[in-house]
Amino acid sequence: MSLEGRAIGIALTGSHCTVPEVVPIIDNLVESGAAVTVIMSASVASTDTRFGKAQDLCEHLERITGNQVIDTIAKAEPIGPKRMFECLAVAPCTGNTLAKLALGIIDTVVTMAAKAHLRNGRPLVIGVSTNDGLAGSAPNIGTLLCKKNVYFVPFGQDDPLGKPNSLVFRVSDLVQAIELALEGRQMQPILVDNRKR
Ligand SMILES: Cc1cc2nc3c(=O)[nH]c(=O)nc-3n(C[C@H](O)[C@H](O)[C@H](O)COP(=O)(O)O)c2cc1C
Repeated sequence: MSLEGRAIGIALTGSHCTVPEVVPIIDNLVESGAAVTVIMSASVASTDTRFGKAQDLCEHLERITGNQVIDTIAKAEPIGPKRMFECLAVAPCTGNTLAKLALGIIDTVVTMAAKAHLRNGRPLVIGVSTNDGLAGSAPNIGTLLCKKNVYFVPFGQDDPLGKPNSLVFRVSDLVQAIELALEGRQMQPILVDNRKR
């Protein structure tokens, strides 16, 4: 399956070390002909970190995709009524956004985008990236695994000895997980060996 011509939303949340790994995937998606719009959580849109400057990221993504970044709840609301995306991926998804998605708390740009998108019965793909994946976030991952139209990018422990509770999705599986979600299928195996070597 190809994503050529498909309308895809990619929502970035504040796993700031993972965002730069997702940017080349977005570049490739656009090159392969997908119509991509990026959504940014407030922390991604406003935080300069050692991994890069927020404004540079925003400018790059707007230039590459040709679409304005969605960075307010008001801009995210039309995603539902306008049926903007065939698939929306939240990747990386922080422990914070995971918790809100699991509990139906809609007070951020990305949770608004997800809620608006899910109302149309369309697939939401989650790429979890959080140091407490096997601790505080574990119940939220479990809740979302059981939700209709929610799929996960395969994930695993990235540093079992150094950060035993940390889970990170496999960035290189993001596109395939989206392709399968568009067919109503969960990419398998969900649990992968994701140690950085
Ligand atoms: C440099 C840096 C790296 C971070 N990395 C992560 C991360 O990998 N996973 C995570 O869940 N939170 C991480 N955080 C914390 C989130 O950015 C923070 O919880 C924020 O409130 C998330 O908001 P959002 O989910 O709306 O983007 C990081 C924060 C900073 C400053």
